[in-house]
Amino acid sequence: MARETWATRVGFILAAAGSAVGLGNIWRFPWVTAENGGSAFLAVYLGIVLVVGVPGLLAEFVIGRRGKQSPVGALRDLSGSRTWGLWGVFYVITAIALISFYSVVGGWILRYFGESALGLVGAQPAYFAAPGQYFGGVAAGLDALAFHLLFLALTALVVFGGVRRGIELGTKVMMPAVLVLLIGLAVWAGARSGAAEAYAFYLRFDVATVRANFFDVLGPAAGQALFTLSLGAGTMITYASYIDEDRSLPFDATVIAILNTLVGVLAGLVVFPLLFSLGVDPAQTAPGPGALFVGLAGAFAQLPAGALVATAFFGVVVLAALSSSISMLEIPVSFLVDEYGLGRRRAVALVTLAVVVTGGVCAINPTVGGTAVFGFVAGPLVDTLLTAGLAAVLLFVGWVMGHDAISELRAGGGDLSAAIATPWLLAVGVVLPVFLVFTLLTTFGLSGSLGFWPTVLVAVLVGAAAVAGLRTERALV
Ligand code: TRP
Repeated sequence: MARETWATRVGFILAAAGSAVGLGNIWRFPWVTAENGGSAFLAVYLGIVLVVGVPGLLAEFVIGRRGKQSPVGALRDLSGSRTWGLWGVFYVITAIALISFYSVVGGWILRYFGESALGLVGAQPAYFAAPGQYFGGVAAGLDALAFHLLFLALTALVVFGGVRRGIELGTKVMMPAVLVLLIGLAVWAGARSGAAEAYAFYLRFDVATVRANFFDVLGPAAGQALFTLSLGAGTMITYASYIDEDRSLPFDATVIAILNTLVGVLAGLVVFPLLFSLGVDPAQTAPGPGALFVGLAGAFAQLPAGALVATAFFGVVVLAALSSSISMLEIPVSFLVDEYGLGRRRAVALVTLAVVVTGGVCAINPTVGGTAVFGFVAGPLVDTLLTAGLAAVLLFVGWVMGHDAISELRAGGGDLSAAIATPWLLAVGVVLPVFLVFTLLTTFGLSGSLGFWPTVLVAVLVGAAAVAGLRTERALV
């Protein structure tokens, strides 16, 4: 049977942008920006997106389009080594970890969307009265489990439809809807009193903060950039495996990165004016679940037409989250289809069943050895898996694919693709892995205990060792 492909060019861009645009943009991005120096941080972040994110996207695209298989088959066949194929299985596992917590959060959002919509027909949304208490009551346990299952079912339904009739069609509806609704909400929010103050807070150009905390800012900015661009889990490898040779990968990657940043900035333009208009201190609504489900939910309760605004807002978040969760589910599905010849529907059913269990554990959120499962999966586990996952992609492209990666990048692209190909490969093979190892060490808090320069030294040594170990006859130009 012929492998499915995207029907249209814009279909691929919207699907990949749909994967990128998600909870990361709406849930985290505005707060991370506001806390770290506003538009000055935005500049650093944009720099990282361009220097780390876009090359990283390109690395996954190159593997996917050349391999034309799930990450497992692509890494194995492009390298001719079963060990790399095993590493591909790592992405399948990462994807399952991701969707396990993502689907729980998606469930919360569905619930808030439903509650808000009830407000449209006259009922008072249940969370209006006491947002903090309400969220505490539904965030974990059977309530969370039920809505996790609902969100997962929606995700599975889209993936069930296949590449063209499920993912492509779905994201072609979802992405424009997200943009239009967000712009509408931002305009509405801009007319609130206090909007000017909010903009000053959100977009102030605070270079001093950035300069004073440059290395502290680098970590969060890089982590945010990887997560928000869906890098390091094989998503973009999988999506790119469904495209043809006739398009410019650098162009597509840039458009995706821009769309993704745009949605994050827009989300902030909605959130902060709302909070300011009610005199809520955004610093009190720290990034994380509390921000959306307590701070903002409380704001909706006090606004004119609050239920309507809340429905639109949580509607945006549902769509953004759904277009991301389908991209997570697609990884294990494509693995089962490509490697074991399973039918898509059967593969979707199997993977969904697995996530019913793994996500169910996150929804109930038991504590294991003093650590809450949800927090562990959503935080350190995913951070580590994604960073390691992207580092491997980069080393693979730089040292295993080498010249093949260059010709794949050039295929379908114009002069610009040709011009950036070699510098790109150098960045991907050497500079970025070292940078990632460094952020990985920061995640583990090792840099603090080791001191800055020793950490850099360790990062360089580890990077060099990895590079040396992966060297092949087709090595870096
Ligand atoms: N990028 C999405 C967000 O911002 C999340 C996401 C989807 C993701 N697919 C991924 C993150 C793969 C890492 C890897 O919410």
